[in-house]
Amino acid sequence: MKEILNINNEKYARECLNEALEIGVNFKLNADFKAKKFEKNNMEKLLKTPTKGVELKKLLKSFENDIIPYCSNFGNEKFMGFPDSGNSIAGISGAILSDFLQQNLINSSFCAPIATYMEIAVIKWFRELLGYKIKDIKNIWDVGGIITYGGTGSNSVAMMLARENFKKNTMINGIHNPSDYKVILPKGIGHYSIKSSLMWLGCGDNVIEVPTENFRYNLQELKKTIEKNKGKIMAVVCYVGDSRTMTIENLKGVYDIVKNIDSNIWLHADACHGFSLAFSEKLKNRIEGINLFDSISTDPHKVLTIPYCVSALLIKNPEKFKLITSTSDLIMQEDFAWGQITPFIGSKSWVSLKIWFMMQNIGIEKIGKMIEKRCSMAEKFAKIVNDSPDFVLLNDVNINSVVFMYVGEKNKKFKYNVENLNKLNSKIHEKLLDDGKYHLHKFTLSDDKGIIKKGETLTPLRYMSGNPNISVKTLNDLLNYIRNIIKDL
Ligand SMILES: Cc1ncc(COP(=O)(O)O)c(C=O)c1O
Repeated sequence: MKEILNINNEKYARECLNEALEIGVNFKLNADFKAKKFEKNNMEKLLKTPTKGVELKKLLKSFENDIIPYCSNFGNEKFMGFPDSGNSIAGISGAILSDFLQQNLINSSFCAPIATYMEIAVIKWFRELLGYKIKDIKNIWDVGGIITYGGTGSNSVAMMLARENFKKNTMINGIHNPSDYKVILPKGIGHYSIKSSLMWLGCGDNVIEVPTENFRYNLQELKKTIEKNKGKIMAVVCYVGDSRTMTIENLKGVYDIVKNIDSNIWLHADACHGFSLAFSEKLKNRIEGINLFDSISTDPHKVLTIPYCVSALLIKNPEKFKLITSTSDLIMQEDFAWGQITPFIGSKSWVSLKIWFMMQNIGIEKIGKMIEKRCSMAEKFAKIVNDSPDFVLLNDVNINSVVFMYVGEKNKKFKYNVENLNKLNSKIHEKLLDDGKYHLHKFTLSDDKGIIKKGETLTPLRYMSGNPNISVKTLNDLLNYIRNIIKDL
């Protein structure tokens, strides 16, 4: 069969695969974030069932012409909504090779003999960077981390660990009274993955949101809340870079309060973004105390220029994975079968190879410099916003997020009408989405710092880039582009 790789069609296969690579590279280097907008009423033709096949070279051509122009290019420097640039050449190489190699890490002996140990190496590097102890690794329960398919997956397993740590054998007996399984989150800045995972895990919607100050826990309120619900709190979650403002929690402060009241409460650090600072000698002091936490979520596909989907969950005490171990005599009864400690995952692809390639290629020192440049670019943008006559800055820049709003004339602060400003900034965002030249994120956020009106719900714009190619010129161009949008509105 021509369509299936074999020695008789080697030349054809190489041509097709090289063509696929060309298309991929051309896409990444495209100057615009998005060339065309896809309208939902065109979906019908995508749904047509492929009864007869299309020759691959023809298919690749039509894919390039008819589909690619509608795709968003997160690797473009004008994409400033999220840091997920996915443009490390080594990371992409790892992604391609892991698909070629088809190793299944559910089991180490016959499915993934060397891949298993290379995945263990990646987890060890992360543990070292974040300051967790490294054990002598005799089996999978000594590793102290797992690879999942995203921050949501890592947070879900962390909540599962918290649940089992709180009430042993829930895995076997199930949950009897979900309202006894409460989890604390900072109000208004939590990522939905925690709440959703608690629902998926049978713990119900029992999140308690504690008020924040400047996007961190109000520690007195946190203390009061834990004391009031003593015995019913299974976990407290902190953000080492929350999804909106990228504020880093007061990690030691929270640790002291929580563990002094109840040392069995599971402390989880969602460091999907902030773990990147561990690579930099200069910046790692900003996440000091993270190694005190029981678990840490990391998201290399967001912050390390690695393509989707790969995340790592690390836990302080590796033994705790025994709490959520499940085995089967089918394939998993061996010392290094990941499948025993990776809930929700059956066949387990070698996604960590992307991280392995990227770290081997760039090396920790240079990755650290890349993260420093990313943070300093955000600081520069914050300064440009602050110094401008018409935009206001709403957060302190801890990592790489700049939350801001167009306000017209800044010095008329006392005259701000929040409703009008929210509408105006939402319109700007809509126009940016329609144009497809630049991309920023938009969400609702309480004005914790009282820049416009303390406590009011704002709908600001948000810059956040992880693209090493970004330049100060792009930042200035962006603000001018927004000013031109305003003229046209
Ligand atoms: C703080 C935080 N945690 C978790 C997640 C979820 O990560 P993922 O999209 O990889 O599942 C995100 C995503 O933006 C996030 O910002």
